[in-house]
Amino acid sequence: MSETRIGLLGFGTVGSAVHRLLGESAEAIERVTGEPVVVAGALVRDPSRRRPAPDGLLTTDFARLRDDPSISVVAEVMGGIEPTRTYLLELMAAGKSVVSANKQLLARHGEELFAEAERRGVQLRFEASVCAAIPVVKVLRESMIVTGVHRIDGIVNGTTNFILTRMVSAGDTYAAALHEAQELGYAEADPTEDVTGADAAAKIAILASIAFHTRVRTDEVEHVGIDGLDLVDVRHASALGYQVKLIASAMQVGDAVCARVHPCLLDADHPLASVQGAFNAVMLRGSSIREVILEGPGAGGEETATAVIGDLLAVIGTSGTGFLQHDGYYRELRRLPLDELRSPFYLRFEVDDEPGVLAQVAQALAAESVSVAQVVQHSGRGVHIVILTHTAREGSVRAAARAVAGLGFSRSAPVALPVLVRSA
Ligand SMILES: NC(=O)c1ccc[n+]([C@@H]2O[C@H](COP(=O)([O-])OP(=O)(O)OC[C@H]3O[C@@H](n4cnc5c(N)ncnc54)[C@H](OP(=O)(O)O)[C@@H]3O)[C@@H](O)[C@H]2O)c1
Repeated sequence: MSETRIGLLGFGTVGSAVHRLLGESAEAIERVTGEPVVVAGALVRDPSRRRPAPDGLLTTDFARLRDDPSISVVAEVMGGIEPTRTYLLELMAAGKSVVSANKQLLARHGEELFAEAERRGVQLRFEASVCAAIPVVKVLRESMIVTGVHRIDGIVNGTTNFILTRMVSAGDTYAAALHEAQELGYAEADPTEDVTGADAAAKIAILASIAFHTRVRTDEVEHVGIDGLDLVDVRHASALGYQVKLIASAMQVGDAVCARVHPCLLDADHPLASVQGAFNAVMLRGSSIREVILEGPGAGGEETATAVIGDLLAVIGTSGTGFLQHDGYYRELRRLPLDELRSPFYLRFEVDDEPGVLAQVAQALAAESVSVAQVVQHSGRGVHIVILTHTAREGSVRAAARAVAGLGFSRSAPVALPVLVRSA
């Protein structure tokens, strides 16, 4: 009987789970593809490390996989930029389709990799690179072609959502919540990529590129993480009935697009407000669908492996170049300046307790045509003036905040967080 032979680049958390699940689900896979799927080899750095691999499976010789004509598709689950990028290019040049779980590689070198896939007539699939087990890439590429998706908002980093959930539910400081995330294995020893929003920026760059058919690169995505977030703002927001979440957003307005990552306030009835702990969720909005929300585990070896295997089976089950990877399909779109975005804002000013301060803050806002919806004054380290604005231009809000920061009574840099409203 014939069989499909695949290769793995990497046999770590995800790679070993792919191998195990392929074995455990052999019958279901054969039902779908019509033939067994066999792992012909797996590339590692150090084959002497103890792991559950059959004899002869592991190799340190990339050429063994690249030059094996019986291997038709390879899953890249090793991570990193180089030599991974070179390996993928060489595999595609050798006529093999590839599947990747590597968000940073796709977000930085997607253009080059997709062009090579197009040139060689092979497939490049990457479901596991965004939100692990949530099939958001497949939904955007294959199910939503005529839905006119114009906005994506997502909680796409489980580590930061876990930290924010702890800050709200247990009143932990950022540092204590981060420590707990590390103890539970949610956060890496070096959590920089997660907490600065860089990880989320790569993921939203990938989603924006698929949704709007234009190349959005990760270095274009302005990202503000939760590392500078003060527990006091989480508490003030909570008192006003809002949840603070790290939101990755991308939108198309006319012929312009933008993508960003920022801590945002979410109204209690916003679908993303209830996403707790290490879960991920993505909300897609389109002219003919209103909204579609996908929620689920955004990380984990087995969870991620299910998406890698879904891609492998999709490659095996389809022929030609698959969906939407023709490079000519992508177009150049103008970048929408973040200053032009419009939403309500949460503003917090720490000021001296003096008469007339509130009036001067209101004046600075009015000078930029920012209108106030609600004001609350808290006594803390100095006085906190917390303001919810009506919908306003982001550039105007930031200009007003800068003006207040320049006044003598300001004690610290103002905090300005966008408020996500469902109708945006
Ligand atoms: N883990 C998750 O929850 C998750 C979720 C979504 C996406 N991902 C993505 O999936 C990919 C793999 O993640 P992982 O957690 O499975 O990583 P991992 O446990 O560190 O495994 C990486 C594997 O790749 C091999 N490898 C790395 N660099 C290599 C090189 N230069 N040459 C040969 N082999 C090399 C390693 O070999 P040795 O074993 O010999 O060191 C190891 O087997 C990454 O791109 C990650 O971002 C992971």
